[in-house]
Amino acid sequence: MLASGRGSNLAALLVARDCGDLPAEFVLVASDKATAGALRLAEGAGVPTLVLDPRAYPDRRRFDLDLFDRIADSGADLLVMAGFMRIIDGDALTPWIGRMVNIHPSLLPKYRGLQTHRRALEAGDREHGASVHYVTAELDGGPVIAQVHIAIKPDDDEQRLAQRLLPLEHRLLVAVVADIAAGKVSLDGDGVQFEQETLTQPLQWIEGRLKAAS
Ligand code: GRF
Repeated sequence: MLASGRGSNLAALLVARDCGDLPAEFVLVASDKATAGALRLAEGAGVPTLVLDPRAYPDRRRFDLDLFDRIADSGADLLVMAGFMRIIDGDALTPWIGRMVNIHPSLLPKYRGLQTHRRALEAGDREHGASVHYVTAELDGGPVIAQVHIAIKPDDDEQRLAQRLLPLEHRLLVAVVADIAAGKVSLDGDGVQFEQETLTQPLQWIEGRLKAAS
């Protein structure tokens, strides 16, 4: 897992594993920030950690190549990004295409990049949500696997909206990672595969489970 911040998504994945809902082994949590809460959580859970400081590298590309070499050395089959606040070099991530997912707090393709909650509110949107997508070289632009929607309330501000969405992000990410671990979700040249069918629309998190959109 790659994270730059507090690590609430990592916490949700670890809880799911501990409850028997996620058949996965955590082999590494890596960060570009020594202060990331995700690292403390990983240490507490006995998961190996790695911190690389981008300032110790001559450029972004060499940082990314070193980071991804070390991730490969960890033996990981799947790389989960949650709040990893860096754009990754295409050469570093190419070997991981189809094995790397990101959680993004918007209904992609809306609001790639930052400040997604503010942008949804400013646009007067009636609903907002989060997406889990396969990572490609295009920022927040890879094939979307699944989404969760929430209604925007008249008294929502950026913080309230983010707070209401976060627990749903956790459930969405856990469900997608569990389905990848179970071999139900994958990526091939045709797009996202779910139970041997190519998705034409992202899966939806509805009533506590992932469903194919009708
Ligand atoms: C989440 O809101 C995620 O959608 C976004 O960054 C945040 C990460 O939160 N990409 P955490 O560090 O997992 O708590």
